[in-house]
Amino acid sequence: MTTAALAAADAAQPQPLASIDVSDPTLYERDTWQPLFARLRREEPIHYCADSPYGAYWSVTRYNDIMAVELDHATYSSELGGIQVRDAPPDFTLTNFIRMDPPRHTSQRRTVAPVAAPNNLVSYEVTIRERTRTVLDALPRNETFDWVDKVSIELTTMMLATLFDFPWAERRKLTFWSDVAVCNVDAPDAPVHSDEERLAELMRMGTYFRELWKERVNAPPKLDLISMMAHGQDTRDMPEREFIGNLGLLIVGGNDTTRNSMSGGLLALSQNPGELAKLKANPALVPSLVAETIRYQTPVIHMRRTATRDTELAGRKIGKGDKVVMWYVSGNRDESVIDNPDAFIVDRAKPRQHLSYGAGIHRCVGDRLADLQLRVLWEEILARDLDIQVMGPPRRLYSNFIRGIRELPVRIVA
Ligand code: HEM
Repeated sequence: MTTAALAAADAAQPQPLASIDVSDPTLYERDTWQPLFARLRREEPIHYCADSPYGAYWSVTRYNDIMAVELDHATYSSELGGIQVRDAPPDFTLTNFIRMDPPRHTSQRRTVAPVAAPNNLVSYEVTIRERTRTVLDALPRNETFDWVDKVSIELTTMMLATLFDFPWAERRKLTFWSDVAVCNVDAPDAPVHSDEERLAELMRMGTYFRELWKERVNAPPKLDLISMMAHGQDTRDMPEREFIGNLGLLIVGGNDTTRNSMSGGLLALSQNPGELAKLKANPALVPSLVAETIRYQTPVIHMRRTATRDTELAGRKIGKGDKVVMWYVSGNRDESVIDNPDAFIVDRAKPRQHLSYGAGIHRCVGDRLADLQLRVLWEEILARDLDIQVMGPPRRLYSNFIRGIRELPVRIVA
């Protein structure tokens, strides 16, 4: 059923609020989540789901309430229960700094953050532009191909290989490990089908990276992530699982999210030809297009916290130990904060007003790097005046965590 048909069916015979479970991954695979969240924002913005495959959890669905949770890390912990609605089975947990509270979070974040600092980005831009040009110029003309594989994955994987100074010919290993780290093991096309298999694969990744680490730790410090961690005071003695966990974080952080924004932006523009026309008429809108793409796509669907004490949120009583899920997809469509939020508009007055990068102490480390990659991609597409036509519907990821596009058939008409 389409989103509109679902909304009509729900209006005719509304589902009881208590039975709504927005953690169902099929909602995102079918892209039918919008009406459910619109209803929650309207009728019960802090919603309790007592029974789901992931246990009981609170949903926070409005922009300002999500912001309140983000900014109160003393009450809403990332460390107690992790960052996903699904609890990782304790034996298979790999820890990393996105799942830590201060003070451990603070020092580990400080070690890797410089990789995406403004002075570094200036030198990355040259490399990114060169590679983007090469990839775009090599794309087939007048034949259908998959944009996700040939452009989104290719460009983000190249970027990751640069960040890690990873052996170039083997860079698609990074794509594979990223998919392994975030996949829903129940999805039929997942690269691994159990937590045991996932852990085994990530341990193999750890062994591979350990070799690179050994090279870098004995060489002078450089500005790649492995060298930075190998020489960083707070990261050089990390236990094995923390080492692997942090690598996984950086690989997923820098890969999946940007990849899906590259695909989501093209899809949104193809569905909104008027916006594409505005962009072609005024290429200075590219930075605004990038921000709007990141809001509209919302590559990370949710982040979860765990209450460290009894508390109250927008009038609801949250108990110590409760699971609290911030649904960024919903906050980014909150009509009380963002004008006409379901529309894709490339010249919004405040394009950066979105929650896709989170907020507070865990706000995305790579936001400027992701913006840069997307900006360069669109500048180069416009410079070539490429006529890219989407030839069929996207195939979406079965996940309640990453809003992903797995395949997008396109054709460049030349
Ligand atoms: C469009 C692209 C991206 C999106 C939408 C995105 C989204 C996010 C979100 C939602 C968070 C958690 C924020 C919170 O809990 O408040 C996060 C954290 C993080 N991101 Fe990104 N990200 C993107 C690109 C990147 C890139 C390119 C990198 C790596 C270079 C990266 C590395 C990280 C890291 C390391 C964290 C953990 C920060 C912390 O816990 O302190 N991300 N990102």
